[in-house]
Amino acid sequence: MKYGYFDDEKQEYVITRPDTPAPWANYLGSPAYGAIISNNAGGYSFAKSGANGRILRYVFNDFDQPGRYIYLRDNDTADYWSASWQPVGKSLDTYKCECHHGTAYTKMFADYSGIHSEADYYVPLNRAYEVWNLKVTNTSDRPRNLTVTGFAEFTNDCNYEQDQVNLQYTLFITQTHFMGNRIRQTINENQPGKDKADGSVAEDRFFGMTGAEVASYCGDKEKFLGRYHNYGNPVGIESGDLGNELNYNENSCGALSAVITLQPGESKDLAFILGMKSDEEAAEIVGSYEADPEKKVEEELSELINYWHGKLAHLHVQTPSPEFNTMINTWNAYNCFMTFTWSRAASFIYCGLRNGYGYRDTVQDIQGVIHLAPEMAVEQIRFMLSAQVDNGGGLPLVKFTHNPGHEDTPDDASYVQETGHPAYRADDALWLFPTVNKYIGESGNTAFLDEVIPYANKGEATVYEHLKMAIDFSMNHLGNHGMPAGLYADWNDCLRLGANGESTFVAFQFYLAMKILGKYAADRNDTEYVKYLEENEDKLAKILQENCWNEDRFVRGFTEDGQTIGKRTDPEANMWLNPQSWSVISGFASDEQADKALDSVYNILNTEYGVMLMDPPYHKHSFDGALMVIYNQGEKENGGIFSQPQGWIILAEALRGHGNRAFKYFMESAPSAMNDKAEIRKLEPYCHGQFTEGKASPHFGRSHVHWLTGTASTVMVGCVEGILGLRPDAKGLKIAPSIPSEWESFTIDKDFRGCHLHITFRNDGHAESGCKSMKVNGKEVDGCYVPAELLTEQTEIEYVIS
Ligand code: GLC
Repeated sequence: MKYGYFDDEKQEYVITRPDTPAPWANYLGSPAYGAIISNNAGGYSFAKSGANGRILRYVFNDFDQPGRYIYLRDNDTADYWSASWQPVGKSLDTYKCECHHGTAYTKMFADYSGIHSEADYYVPLNRAYEVWNLKVTNTSDRPRNLTVTGFAEFTNDCNYEQDQVNLQYTLFITQTHFMGNRIRQTINENQPGKDKADGSVAEDRFFGMTGAEVASYCGDKEKFLGRYHNYGNPVGIESGDLGNELNYNENSCGALSAVITLQPGESKDLAFILGMKSDEEAAEIVGSYEADPEKKVEEELSELINYWHGKLAHLHVQTPSPEFNTMINTWNAYNCFMTFTWSRAASFIYCGLRNGYGYRDTVQDIQGVIHLAPEMAVEQIRFMLSAQVDNGGGLPLVKFTHNPGHEDTPDDASYVQETGHPAYRADDALWLFPTVNKYIGESGNTAFLDEVIPYANKGEATVYEHLKMAIDFSMNHLGNHGMPAGLYADWNDCLRLGANGESTFVAFQFYLAMKILGKYAADRNDTEYVKYLEENEDKLAKILQENCWNEDRFVRGFTEDGQTIGKRTDPEANMWLNPQSWSVISGFASDEQADKALDSVYNILNTEYGVMLMDPPYHKHSFDGALMVIYNQGEKENGGIFSQPQGWIILAEALRGHGNRAFKYFMESAPSAMNDKAEIRKLEPYCHGQFTEGKASPHFGRSHVHWLTGTASTVMVGCVEGILGLRPDAKGLKIAPSIPSEWESFTIDKDFRGCHLHITFRNDGHAESGCKSMKVNGKEVDGCYVPAELLTEQTEIEYVIS
C-alpha cells in the first residue's frame, strides 16, 4: 500500500494519504533550535538539547500528539477542521490533503468546504525560532467568515523528564502573559534566566501571530481543551472564542485566534512564530514579520531550499533505478546530514535523554557526509579526536558539554556515574581510521595528519599520533588468542566478550586500521613504525586464519572462558553477518574465503527485507555475554535485520565486483523500494530505520527507530564507494563501479576538490563490474584512476565498463 510519492524535482516526499501507519516525520532547524514534525503536525521543538531544552511537549508512545496545530472554523456553520488532517481528523471523503516533506521544511495542503489552506513549517536558516505560515484561500463562491487558531503546547520545564514525571514541582512554576500579538510563557518567573543545576536554562517562551489582529487568546491548556475534550475538539475551537484565559500553575499553552473574512478567490497569510527568547527579542522577531509576512516567508523558504539543495547537489546520479536515484540524490544524503547534525538526540523514539554523542555512532555518521561536505566533516572529526583519551580509547559517550583536555574517562567513577558507561568499548577509536582516510581522500588534505588536537583528558598530539594511540589501545587490550579483546562491547552493543574474550569483527577493523595507518606511515618515511605495523598485521592474520575460519564462514569471536561464538554447529547464532562483510572490507579474506563467506550470508541470512544480523536468534542457548537474548527473537540484535550492516554487505559485495548482489541488497533494504509496501514497513519510505523485524517475528518486514541511525552513513558509503565505485585517495580518484548488469548506462555528477566531474558510464555488454577503458577530458588513462593533476574545472570522464 502506498501513502505518497517522491517528487525528485522538488526533492520532496509527498504524502497523499494522511493515515500513515506511523507518524512520518521531518527535521527542521539546527542544534541551536530543532524541531521534529510529522505529516499530521505532531512533534516537538527544543533549543540546544532535546532533553534539557524542550519547548514543545510531545507524549511518546501516544501516537503523535500533541503538535503544531492550526485550526480553521467556519463561523457561519460552526464547522471546524485543521490545516493538517489531525487533530480534528475530518472524514477523508470530504477532507483532501497533502503533506510535502522537503529539506528542512514541511508544507501541509488541505481542501475542505471550499477553503484551501497551505501551512508551511520551517526554522529560518541560522535562526533559533520557528515559523508556521498559513495561507488560506476562499475557493468557494461566497464570502467566508473564518476563525483561524494556532496552538502550541509548551512544556512546563526545559527538562523533558521533569516535565513528564515531576508534576508535584512542574505544575507550579509556569505562567503565561498576553502581550498583544503573542503569548509569553515564563518558567520560574521569580528567578528569570537562571541556569539550573541540570545545565538547562529557564527562558521565556513565546507564541506570536502576525498578519491579523488577535481576536481571542488562551494560555491555559485545560481551558483551551476543556474538560474531557481533546485536541480534536477543543472547546475554544468549538465555540470560536478562546476566552482570553491565562494560566497560573498547571499547564500552559499558546493559543491565538484571528477572525478573517475572505471574498471568493481571496487569500490571506497569517504567520505563527514560536521560540524561546527574552520578551524583547520575541517582540522584535514577531515584529519582523509584520510588514510583509508573505514575502519574508517566501525568501526564508528559498534560502533554506538553496542551502540544502546546494549541499545535496555535490553528488548527483542518474541511473535506471528511481529508488537508487532518490536515495542517493536526496533522501539518504539528507538522512546522513540529519544523523550528522542530531546524532541520536531527538526523534519520536529518542526523547533526548542520551545527552551526548556516542563515539562510534558519531565517527561513523561523519562518513555519510564526507563526499558532500568535507569541510563540515573535518570539523566533526577534530571534535571526535578531541574526545579520544590519551590511552587511545574513545570516550563511549561524549557529553554535549565536552571540554577537551579536561574530561574524566571511563577510568573515573564520576564519568561512569554521569554517563552510565562503565568501561571502554573495543571498537570506538578504530572507526577513526576509515573516517579520517575517507576525509583525506575526498579533500586531498594530507596536512590534516599534522594538525595538533587535544586528547579528551589531558595532553595533545598530532592526528597521526592520535591514530597511533588508537592502535596502541587495541594492542594493549588483547585477549586469550592475541586478538583484540571484546571488552564492554564492540559495534554490537549486546555482545559482552570481556577483557580476555575476543571479537572477530574488531580484529578485522584493527587489521584495516593497521593497513590504513601503514600507508600514511610509509608516506612519512616512518619506517620503524611501518615495520611494527607489518609485523603485527602478519601476527594478527595468522591468529585469525588459525582460529576464526570455520569452513564457509568466519566465527563471531570467543568468550573469556574459551567458547567460540558463531560456529557452524552451534544450535543458535551459528551464522553472523558482520564478520563476513568485514572480512572483505578489511581486505583480510582470501578470494576463496570472501566468496564463500558472502555466499553463506546470501544462503543463510538473506531475506526479502534484508540480511539478518545472525541466525537462529538466541532463545535457549545464549551465553552470559549475549545480552541480545533480552529481545524477542527476530528483533534488534537478536536476529533482527539490523539496518546498519546492510551498508557493509552492499560494500563487501561491491568490492568483490558482484554488482547484481550488491544492488539486490540495496533494494531489499532501501526505504524507497518499500514505498508501495508501506503497510509492511511502517516507517517513512524516505528514511532509514535502525532495524527491520526478522523472519522469527510475526511482523517480518516491519521497521523501527526512524531517522537517527548509523544506517544512513553505512548504506551511503556502500552505495557511493561500493555500487558507484567512487573511491578517492590522497592522490586522486579511483572509479570502480559494481552495478546491476542490466544497467546499460548511467551518469554521475560529482564535485571534487573544487572541480566538477561529469562521468558517463557505458555498459553495453551487461557486466556487473570492470573497466574496459576510461578517458579523462578525452585522454585515455590507466587503471580507472583519475590522478588529481588531470582534474579541470569541468572534467569530462567517459567510462566503459563493458
Ligand atoms: C545501535 C547503537 C550503535 C550500535 C548498534 C548495534 O544502533 O546506536 O552504537 O553499534 O545499535 O548494537
